[in-house]
Amino acid sequence: MAAGAVTKRSVRVGIVGGGRIADLNAIGWLAHPAGEITAVCDVDEATRLRRAEQWQCRAYAGLDELLADPDVDAVEILTPHHLHASQAIAALRAGKHVSLQKPPTHSLAEFDEVAAAAAAADTTFKVYENFMFYPPNVLARSLIDAGEIGDVLSVRIVTAAGRLDAGQGWIVPAAANAWRLDPALCGGGMMTFDHGFHCFQMGRYFVDHPIDTVHAFINVIELGGGRQIDAPALISWRYVGQPTRFGSWELIASLELDVLSKYYVSDDRIEIRGSAGILWINRCSGQLLEEPPVVLYRGGELRSFHRVETDWATSFRDATFDFINAILEGRPPHLDAGEARATLAFALAAQRSAAEHREVRVAELG
Ligand SMILES: NC(=O)c1ccc[n+]([C@@H]2O[C@H](COP(=O)([O-])OP(=O)(O)OC[C@H]3O[C@@H](n4cnc5c(N)ncnc54)[C@H](O)[C@@H]3O)[C@@H](O)[C@H]2O)c1
Repeated sequence: MAAGAVTKRSVRVGIVGGGRIADLNAIGWLAHPAGEITAVCDVDEATRLRRAEQWQCRAYAGLDELLADPDVDAVEILTPHHLHASQAIAALRAGKHVSLQKPPTHSLAEFDEVAAAAAAADTTFKVYENFMFYPPNVLARSLIDAGEIGDVLSVRIVTAAGRLDAGQGWIVPAAANAWRLDPALCGGGMMTFDHGFHCFQMGRYFVDHPIDTVHAFINVIELGGGRQIDAPALISWRYVGQPTRFGSWELIASLELDVLSKYYVSDDRIEIRGSAGILWINRCSGQLLEEPPVVLYRGGELRSFHRVETDWATSFRDATFDFINAILEGRPPHLDAGEARATLAFALAAQRSAAEHREVRVAELG
């Protein structure tokens, strides 16, 4: 359903965690005619007061107070990953609809507890992954569905993480990086587990076959002061079924490279090869090259697609619209629990492969 089609009911949200990404998660709630932000909860007093002023809503210091508010129908969880499971379960048990930012949990066991709470609740549960709503990716998927490249045979994702001190892109508060650099709080590497969830979801988004086997090299770069990031990495995988289909994600931390961006200094591009054509997606949050957002090669002809929204923020708007519309329509959102579990298992298989220096079958994870 288009956002404009919804007028008679509203969905009132309480946002839990008013940090860096809340700027983009709020866009859809403010733009959708049925969306309304009624409350924010953040343990940091300055953050919750700033957001309450910005969104003209109530401010709570604790989740329990927000969950007790009868004017909160839905909860958007935007906190560090180690808090996701307990907060999502509490919100589902309180009868709220829940949108949980990616990666949903640290482990599959934890995820299954959240999924059980979602199954027991009479509400909507969504894991929030926005790359699958980024218009160039959506356009590429529609070209695949239209048979433009034939059978998809490979997906190749390349990420360039640029220099952090160049004054490009967003100012990311030190606190937002501090918990990400601690694997106990992040759940895995800041690059391959946190950012990685998007890339693993892309690996699944463009191919209608489950992931069979994953092989990962994940190295570490020392940043000084005991801090490290999990890069460079080269992760490859094979899909179930015939003909053989491969995917790969190459992650390079180019710490002297200026990545132009309005958001994170990271450039992600994707090449999809089919039996009859090739697709290139040249954009995501970074704006490294002035290339058409999507290019299609088929039958000796090259077609460039320019008329597509490219601002990365649109992927957040549309991901939030999906949550609101799923609630209003009583349909499963993207990602529902089953889809999100498959992406999490894929991400965890890559972590295990790198740690154990071997090929890992996703089915091993249970
Ligand atoms: N989809 C994307 O592209 C994307 C991008 C960035 C972040 N994220 C996800 O969004 C979430 C938040 O990331 P961020 O970058 O905004 O982090 P952040 O550190 O900037 O914000 C987290 C906020 O949560 C608050 N908080 C901490 N403990 C809390 C608690 N117990 N109750 C309520 N609030 C609490 C903090 O005070 C902080 O304001 C993470 O899950 C992250 O993976 C997703």
